[in-house]
Amino acid sequence: MNMARVVQPEWLDHLPADDPRAIRSRDDLRRINVLMSATRLLGEALDPLIAGRNHARIVELGAGDGSLLLRLARSRANAWPPVTLDLLDMQPIVAPATLARYGELGWAANVVHADVFDWLRDTPTNSNADVNTDEAPIIVANLFLHHFEGQHLSELLHGIAARARAFICVEPRRSSFALLGSRLLGVIGCNAVTRHDAVVSVRAGFADQDLSQGWPSDAAWDLREHAAGLFGHRLVAVRT
Ligand SMILES: C[S@@+](CC[C@H](N)C(=O)[O-])C[C@H]1O[C@@H](n2cnc3c(N)ncnc32)[C@H](O)[C@@H]1O
Repeated sequence: MNMARVVQPEWLDHLPADDPRAIRSRDDLRRINVLMSATRLLGEALDPLIAGRNHARIVELGAGDGSLLLRLARSRANAWPPVTLDLLDMQPIVAPATLARYGELGWAANVVHADVFDWLRDTPTNSNADVNTDEAPIIVANLFLHHFEGQHLSELLHGIAARARAFICVEPRRSSFALLGSRLLGVIGCNAVTRHDAVVSVRAGFADQDLSQGWPSDAAWDLREHAAGLFGHRLVAVRT
């Protein structure tokens, strides 16, 4: 089935961070990330980019409560060099205990409370000489890019490419199977916010080479975009 991409507002983005429905929905998201194998999909793409380096800088866009990368930190703490991590989200919801746990694992994690477009405006681009150093960040995102379309999505992809040495994202796959899965989330106890947003997210998700086609072609990038896990779609973009 070739589903047209439709982007609609998600309820979680419009609920106050301390609304009980939002808190519950973020719990649901943690379980959905397990179902989507998000930690594994990000980790296996990051391993070859980080192992053997002296240091790594990671920026997570739309990081939510920061729990996804914390799972990754737990699994890679002994294998990777020291990591500096910026957790960017427009909602300030990373708990102090989460930040402390990163610290115990040797990761220097910072919360960046900002809209991603303001952050792009305030973050200088890297010159060609900088982008392959450890100081140029690897930018990652999970269940984030599908919020955007048209000019906004294009601005985001160009802005990321101008600042990153690599970019990895895991997004909902726009497929009939993922749509079916999103409609069954009540079975695992997800609340109304999550059930609504999951269906909206799959319809706004990606398929084929949607993201690669929007990626800038003014520098040499190795782009790999494909179905990932049961319900996901992954782009791995690495400067060559
Ligand atoms: C579906 S949640 C995913 C959260 C997290 N990545 C995860 O996997 O649990 C999307 C996140 O993007 C954030 N977000 C949406 N639009 C944003 C924007 N324009 N700038 C920064 N964050 C944004 C929301 O606040 C939310 O935390």
